[in-house]
Amino acid sequence: MTAAPTFACLPKAELHLHIEGTFEPELIFKIAQRNNIAIPFESVEALRGAYQFEDLQSFLYLYYQAMNVLQKEEDFYELCSAYLQRAQANGVVHVEIFFDPQAHTSRGVHFDTVVNGLYKAVKESKEKYGITSKLIMCFLRDLSAESAMDTLKLAEKHGEKIIAVGLDSAEVGNPPSKFKKVFEAALAQGLLTVAHAGEEGPPDYVWEALNDLKVSRVDHGVRSMEDPALVTHLAEHRIPLTVCPLSNVKLRVFPDLKSHNLKHMLDCDLMATVNSDDPAYFGGYVADNLEQVAQALNLSRDEQVRLAKNSIEASFLSHAEKAAYLAQIDNFCKALS
Ligand code: HPA
Ligand code: ZN
Repeated sequence: MTAAPTFACLPKAELHLHIEGTFEPELIFKIAQRNNIAIPFESVEALRGAYQFEDLQSFLYLYYQAMNVLQKEEDFYELCSAYLQRAQANGVVHVEIFFDPQAHTSRGVHFDTVVNGLYKAVKESKEKYGITSKLIMCFLRDLSAESAMDTLKLAEKHGEKIIAVGLDSAEVGNPPSKFKKVFEAALAQGLLTVAHAGEEGPPDYVWEALNDLKVSRVDHGVRSMEDPALVTHLAEHRIPLTVCPLSNVKLRVFPDLKSHNLKHMLDCDLMATVNSDDPAYFGGYVADNLEQVAQALNLSRDEQVRLAKNSIEASFLSHAEKAAYLAQIDNFCKALS
């Protein structure tokens, strides 16, 4: 049986995307040179050649090292603009962008430099690339809850530039419950919440993200499938999961794409979406993720369209904006059939 034609360039939202993970080696070298910062790799090829990971931690080591060259507002603006241009070519019509402020403030880069640089790109994304975009500020879970709370306070004056808070970095040993108070404060400030859970950590971490952090979506969440009661809960409450297939293979959560549980998630009526996570490191942007996983799991056209529609429905857009994008998906499908 031949695989169904892929719909990789369907209009879609990307909801799990770390802007620092879009930092392509060419741009790392360019900005390093501009800022007069030495990097411990001889060439773009040598740096790209180092992208072989054993797990999340081995990736994070390189990820944090590369972002050291980001110093000025224009660096963050250029990073974000470069991603948006690629996203447009991938059929992305809306993106909710993660950023890791503590990875920059800990190196002496001012919080406002990061937010203002990223937000400048976000503000012009509709006009320049036809993409609506929002920012989600992630806390590094291997740092303390106090550090996260201090970071939340820095965000307060930026008001509506940031729509939500998230939780990323080393998962195992840093459960969501560690950040219950910080997330309560964020919710009280009017921010929405999401969290990485069930990537390397157990299903209990997903329960904690739901119960303690009141998340609107679970990032990754692939290990939820080990807990039947959790699967039922996620399906009944239509809680979106932002799945990142190429990331999961690169970080060895699954040995290969054929072993990925995305199809099983859809069969269980879960509201799964497909995303790229850290595309510069994991071998593909969101259309590559969709195309490769659709082929590996033999996803039907309807399943691919469902994934795209889920991404719009799971976003933090208004009802009217969602309706417009869903109609755009229907029109795209009609034009193809
Ligand atoms: N998991 C956790 N933290 C991260 C990731 C991820 O996939 N990417 C960037 N920070
Ligand atoms: Zn992630």
